[in-house]
Amino acid sequence: MQANDKLIVALDVPTLEEAEEIVSLLVPLVGIFKIGLQLYSSCGPKAVEMVQRYGARVFLDLKLHDIPHTVADAGRVITGLGVGMFTLHVAGGLSMLRAAVQAAREEALARGIPCPMLLGVTLLTSLQVEDVRRIGLGTSVIDVVQRWAGLAREAGLDGVVASPREVRVLRLALGPEFILVCPGIRPAWSGLGDQKRTMTPREAARVGVDYLVVGRPIVEADDPVQAVTRIIQEIEEGLSC
Ligand code: C5P
Repeated sequence: MQANDKLIVALDVPTLEEAEEIVSLLVPLVGIFKIGLQLYSSCGPKAVEMVQRYGARVFLDLKLHDIPHTVADAGRVITGLGVGMFTLHVAGGLSMLRAAVQAAREEALARGIPCPMLLGVTLLTSLQVEDVRRIGLGTSVIDVVQRWAGLAREAGLDGVVASPREVRVLRLALGPEFILVCPGIRPAWSGLGDQKRTMTPREAARVGVDYLVVGRPIVEADDPVQAVTRIIQEIEEGLSC
């Protein structure tokens, strides 16, 4: 995969107009845009249609977490939108994950469209050891991530979302085919924000991340095209180390 195919830009903005401005600017360089809770809450499937109109793929990051029946029904609707990938929380458990996989496959088959990639969200990249303790998980960050990633694979998901810092361990445990998608990417020239378990684009590419998700360092940059260009260059450097 080439450096620019590995970059996913998070459209974390409140309106369709702002999202379209970013997509129209970046679509010559970026092929996948992530729609998350803010944009989807504000304009729903219109945001998905807008990105698709530009010929780009959609990563719908709604982090589904509910009883199996509800998540399966949502998974069917999301699959029908023609997105390329979507997320669900591994903490929802094996039955919920399996129900979503089955629902997405059935819906894709019925519509004659490709099945989206299903990605399990492990431990959010904004959490660290103290949060894990206070949530009551009573173990280490890497143990939670590894355990949840194993559950995701057992349920038939295509991959997981995790911190780039966990990629080496996950790759060893889960093999080369399992897709590892990583937010918590911070170039040396941008602020951390609320992210805690971070890496630079260069390091993330070097440890073998499949897809790098970047939001604020791009969408809040004075020049988003320049920010993307720099990040793609850093990914290239990481791949060639
Ligand atoms: O602005 P920033 O680069 O931190 O954006 C990261 C994006 O990835 C956000 O849209 C956030 O919701 C998402 N994300 C995350 N950690 C996860 C899963 C998704 O930061 N574990």
